[in-house]
Amino acid sequence: MTRPEQSVDPVQTQQFRQLIAQRKQGHPVAHLTGQRGFWTLDLQVTPATLIPRPDTELLVELTLSKLKSGMSIADLGTGSGAIALALASERQDVQVIATDISAQALITAKLNAFQNQLQQVSFIRGQWLAAFAARSLDLIVSNPPYIEDTDPHLGQGDLRFEPRTALASGADGLDDLRVIVSQAAQVLRPGGWLLTEHGYLQSAAVQALFASSGFIEISAHQDFGGRDRVVMAQLPL
Ligand SMILES: C[S@@+](CC[C@H](N)C(=O)[O-])C[C@H]1O[C@@H](n2cnc3c(N)ncnc32)[C@H](O)[C@@H]1O
Repeated sequence: MTRPEQSVDPVQTQQFRQLIAQRKQGHPVAHLTGQRGFWTLDLQVTPATLIPRPDTELLVELTLSKLKSGMSIADLGTGSGAIALALASERQDVQVIATDISAQALITAKLNAFQNQLQQVSFIRGQWLAAFAARSLDLIVSNPPYIEDTDPHLGQGDLRFEPRTALASGADGLDDLRVIVSQAAQVLRPGGWLLTEHGYLQSAAVQALFASSGFIEISAHQDFGGRDRVVMAQLPL
């Protein structure tokens, strides 16, 4: 319609019809286009990565408010690289390490770092903080899996097409957060910060996990819909 001087050839027509058919089956638009915008970045996404959500920009904003020059920080479960790359795009004076258990997700995250010219980010494959030495980080941020294994939403909408390992985390959805919070208490330096996203009914449980691992200055933060979605806290100095 906007380019009447151009005609659509039969191959393009066929490709278009295929995309419509896939969308009718429920495939997310981000998988059909292979892209999703996050923060100021255009990111490639694949079925091996979570599709970055606008809600997660809250985690980026809160993390930016705690960054100081020279800090070493880690984004755990980086997926497409969304959080790590958004932070690196704003602050060239911090060392950003992005981790994931999924080798395929890390390939996409590295590609996104290259395409957005953010090659100061380093990538590590592994289970949460297993690869990090004690007292080696100043800040840890994570949007981990936090959906209950039996949540019916896992069988609906876009979630059907995203990796289950990126979404579900045990009977109460907190299995991965339990590991992350307790490991973070060992890996952070005194005064270091931990920020995690969680489900909108999990704030009290996540705050209790932070408290039981010795974190202080625990605060809850709301998304644009006014729902608790992030807990942030610090280790004592
Ligand atoms: C909810 S997705 C978040 C992706 C990305 N950070 C974002 O916000 O768009 C959770 C990520 O954690 C990764 N993950 C799951 N279990 C893990 C583990 N045990 N250790 C490290 N990463 C893990 C998944 O592969 C997935 O990329």
